[in-house]
Amino acid sequence: MSDAKLLLSSPPPGAAADWTIPQAWSAYRPAEHALWDTLFERQCQMLPGRAAPAFLQGLDVLRLSKPGIPDFEELSARLQGLTGWSVVAAPGLVPDEVFFRHLANRTFVAGRFIRTPEQIDYLQEPDIFHDVFGHVPLLADPVFADYMQAYGEGGLKSLTLGALHRLARLYWYTVEFGLIQSDEGLRIFGAGIVSSHGESHFALDDPSPNRLGFDLKRVMRTPYKIDDYQETYFVIDSFEDLLRQTLEADFAPIYRSLERAPDLRTDSLLTTDRVIQKGTGAYARMKAAS
Ligand code: PHE
Ligand code: FE
Repeated sequence: MSDAKLLLSSPPPGAAADWTIPQAWSAYRPAEHALWDTLFERQCQMLPGRAAPAFLQGLDVLRLSKPGIPDFEELSARLQGLTGWSVVAAPGLVPDEVFFRHLANRTFVAGRFIRTPEQIDYLQEPDIFHDVFGHVPLLADPVFADYMQAYGEGGLKSLTLGALHRLARLYWYTVEFGLIQSDEGLRIFGAGIVSSHGESHFALDDPSPNRLGFDLKRVMRTPYKIDDYQETYFVIDSFEDLLRQTLEADFAPIYRSLERAPDLRTDSLLTTDRVIQKGTGAYARMKAAS
């Protein structure tokens, strides 16, 4: 997901009309496979008890624990059998319309490059570890798989309604940075969290951020940080509930009803919020002071 791109821009040289490129799996160097393994093991150590059960199950059924960078053809064959999704490579970020159309067709576009060892803890542009480790396991979950397809269709519609920023916030606070309630307590499921060593700790255990019950309109009014940990995380009750709230609603009147609603601050608390944990704000204050 990204902004600042022209709808009518054409694919870069070497890419197909739908912006995909071959993964060229055999071109990965041993050091790149080794870096994947390092990232993989580090996350797997901390995710039990932190990540949503459906995410951990996805890692398992897709056999992502096989050493080395996954081969998209193999991975897609497994996913196809489970939920009909496939994974294809694209050169960096693709235009929103292209991205949404792929999702609507149950195709997830992933970067094929892997970060450098210096970027092991943080990088701004999503690499294959974020895209595949973060996003693909939940595509093996039938309900989440339907949500992602519906999101793609909703994305195309949001473009015609001038409401991309609203729908982007929904993506951000669910697909990328969502938390979920489980029988054993809060769990993380957003790809931006589960693929980040620091944030998989921060989002769940740090006292700083607010953790609020998911509310569609509230989320659509809440901007987000793209270069630091979030000040607010939203907690869904279940994937079924998320799918029900989004799929069954026609967003057009919701977008219209929000036209005059001012954006909220990233750390605001409203009297109408379902507060699960009120944050101390300590982390954001520390960052602002430094
Ligand atoms: N129901 C939404 C709309 O009318 C589409 C959507 C579904 C968006 C699921 C996101 C997730 O636009
Ligand atoms: Fe992502």
